[in-house]
Amino acid sequence: MMKKPLLLAAFVGLLCFPLLSYAQKNSCVECHTGLEAKLKAPVESLKQDIHQQFGLSCKDCHGGDPAKDEVNKAKDKTFKGAPKRSQIPEFCAKCHSDAAYMRSFNPGLRVDQLSQYWTSKHGQLLKTGDGKAAVCTDCHGVHGIQSAKYPKSLTFPWNIPQTCGRCHADASYMAGYKIPTNQLAEYKESVHARALFEKKDLSAPTCNDCHGNHGAFPPEVKSIASVCRQCHPSTGDLFSRSPHKKAFDEMGVSECEACHGSHKIERPTSDMLGTGEKSVCVQCHEAGSLGYKAADELKNLFDGFQAQFQKNADILALAEKKGVEVSEPKFRLQDLNTTLVSAKNLVHGLALEEIRKKIAEGDQTLADIDTEGIKALGEAKFRRRGLIIATAFLALFGIALFLKIRQMQKPGHSPGSD
Ligand code: HEC
Ligand code: HEC
Ligand code: HEC
Ligand code: HEC
Ligand code: HEC
Ligand code: HEC
Ligand code: HEC
Ligand code: HEC
Ligand code: HEC
Repeated sequence: MMKKPLLLAAFVGLLCFPLLSYAQKNSCVECHTGLEAKLKAPVESLKQDIHQQFGLSCKDCHGGDPAKDEVNKAKDKTFKGAPKRSQIPEFCAKCHSDAAYMRSFNPGLRVDQLSQYWTSKHGQLLKTGDGKAAVCTDCHGVHGIQSAKYPKSLTFPWNIPQTCGRCHADASYMAGYKIPTNQLAEYKESVHARALFEKKDLSAPTCNDCHGNHGAFPPEVKSIASVCRQCHPSTGDLFSRSPHKKAFDEMGVSECEACHGSHKIERPTSDMLGTGEKSVCVQCHEAGSLGYKAADELKNLFDGFQAQFQKNADILALAEKKGVEVSEPKFRLQDLNTTLVSAKNLVHGLALEEIRKKIAEGDQTLADIDTEGIKALGEAKFRRRGLIIATAFLALFGIALFLKIRQMQKPGHSPGSD
């Protein structure tokens, strides 16, 4: 009785087998696997490719009939061959700009890459016949394309600088153009690159966060601010409320870049203030002006605060080394870091009165901690004195005991003879 369904299943399976293998037949792969390196490579690379993972294969991009073994039948009228460089954007966009088609795979995926691309400097140049501008495959690869979520992908955040730098840092490749080729080198020295590469902080920007993915263009004066503000919104708000906002707009100066630069954005220090060589303020403010005086005052305020902060930290560290409990003042000192950070942030609002007030309050706390630190050191000294007295006392006691024992051991000295 049990055998009938089994037999039926086997029969149906046998019937389907040739059909299944027919559907899966891929003469493109079969033949290309046996060809020379350049023609075989796509087969290997496609094993890591997102298109293959979604069930697509050679014919979906190149056309042709993978059911036919002979070359001229496999390469029928639908066969497209390898596209020329100038044709690649349209070649990829055949699917990627087709919303209905893409939706059947992934409803969340954008379908505006091509239209964005034509607005970019790359796309505009390609339209004029310039073959050196980046096309889809320069940033994504050809066979072996991966989603940007995959750490080995050319478009994963920490691979992007290299992907763009392959052209932009190559002076001979870029020789015909009037733009610098230092973006990669400068970016690598920035606080952003350090966060991305050393702290593995994926929220730090890489090339495409500031330039866009497909619409790559240098941000214009007006938009640089919004680029930085995406991630530094409170700084942007403060800046907008400062007298600099109107002044910079009128001069056509870009708000963050004027003081921080674009690619080599370094960790800010108070040397950006003041009137020294590294001051960013003296570019625009002459000696004697209000801005010049403010720059000088701000540097003195911050440096004074930082010096006292360091002094307190040293005293507390010393007291701790000597065994005095100082975790409470240490905690309060660490808290003052936030005072300094928020005071420095207020520079963007040119809120001098507020900064003075914050620093004055901080100075008061520093003075309190200083008193406690000195008291702790005094306590350590007192304890040490106590320890010396106790040790001396014990030593004297030891000597007395020793003498006493010696005396008791002397010959002729019998117990009770005293
Ligand atoms: C029987 C072997 C054979 C089969 C089957 C075959 N190819 Fe090829 N293919 C070749 C050879 C040989 C070349 C190199 C000579 C040439 O360009 O015609 C080639 C070249 C190519 C090229 C590069 C052409 C160019 O424009 O530079 C592509 C793309 C390609 N094949 C895709 C496919 C696809 C897609 C299929 C399946 C529909 C397929 N091939 C089936 C043998 C084969
Ligand atoms: C996602 C689309 C896509 C898929 C899938 C794809 N190719 Fe390609 N293939 C391309 C593009 C684009 C080029 C042109 C690359 C270039 O010129 O830089 C190309 C080029 C080629 C070339 C020419 C290589 C050369 O160096 O001149 C061959 C051969 C080839 N493909 C074979 C295959 C085979 C075989 C498969 C299946 C195993 C396949 N391709 C799958 C997009 C695809
Ligand atoms: C035959 C249609 C088709 C062609 C042609 C095609 N793609 Fe795709 N592509 C897809 C599909 C389907 C997916 C999977 C959707 C997904 O990733 O969720 C995909 C995924 C991708 C992804 C990953 C998207 C992500 O983050 O999930 C990238 C990048 C990509 N394609 C780039 C290209 C490039 C570059 C070309 C041209 C060389 C190309 N595609 C040609 C259909 C196509
Ligand atoms: C200058 C480099 C560059 C070029 C040229 C480029 N892309 Fe991209 N593309 C990227 C980057 C970077 C991402 C990843 C964005 C991210 O971090 O999610 C991306 C993402 C994608 C995605 C995933 C969905 C999305 O839009 O985020 C697809 C699909 C895609 N690209 C297709 C294409 C196609 C098709 C072309 C050609 C018309 C193209 N790309 C040209 C750099 C490029
Ligand atoms: C295949 C080489 C190549 C790759 C890869 C490439 N670019 Fe370009 N890019 C160029 C060329 C060539 C120009 C044209 C230079 C000019 O503007 O005159 C250009 C122009 C630009 C411009 C406009 C510069 C200006 O002021 O005119 C920006 C911004 C840019 N690229 C950003 C990027 C970013 C970001 C990436 C990576 C996601 C990237 N590029 C990848 C070749 C490339
Ligand atoms: C934090 C944002 C930011 C990051 C990250 C960034 N850029 Fe830029 N980039 C800018 C700004 C702002 C400008 C405009 C400079 C100007 O006009 O003075 C610019 C300009 C450019 C230009 C035009 C030529 C020039 O130097 O003025 C190119 C090309 C460029 N960037 C490429 C890159 C590449 C490649 C990377 C990654 C290695 C990168 N950028 C990373 C903000 C950024
Ligand atoms: C995609 C988000 C993002 C964008 C866009 C961005 N930043 Fe940043 N930025 C960060 C992150 C994250 C850090 C923290 C790095 C660290 O110290 O770990 C940072 C750090 C900084 C620092 C150092 C802060 C400190 O306390 O030491 C400065 C200055 C800075 N960014 C300025 C800029 C400027 C100017 C721009 C625009 C040209 C910009 N950023 C664009 C995310 C961003
Ligand atoms: C007028 C010059 C100037 C402009 C314009 C400027 N900054 Fe600053 N920025 C400074 C100075 C000065 C410091 C603090 C230096 C120090 O450590 O004492 C600083 C510090 C910072 C810091 C680290 C401290 C903090 O506030 O968290 C960040 C982040 C920052 N700036 C981002 C930006 C962004 C984003 C913009 C554009 C909206 C911008 N800056 C515009 C001069 C400027
Ligand atoms: C790109 C040029 C530029 C830079 C850089 C710059 N300023 Fe200014 N600043 C101006 C202009 C223009 C005004 C408008 C009033 C004026 O003409 O003095 C102004 C106004 C001020 C004011 C208000 C003074 C008043 O007259 O009301 C202060 C304070 C000030 N800046 C401080 C600074 C400090 C501190 C720095 C460095 C962190 C700095 N500025 C960097 C151009 C600049």
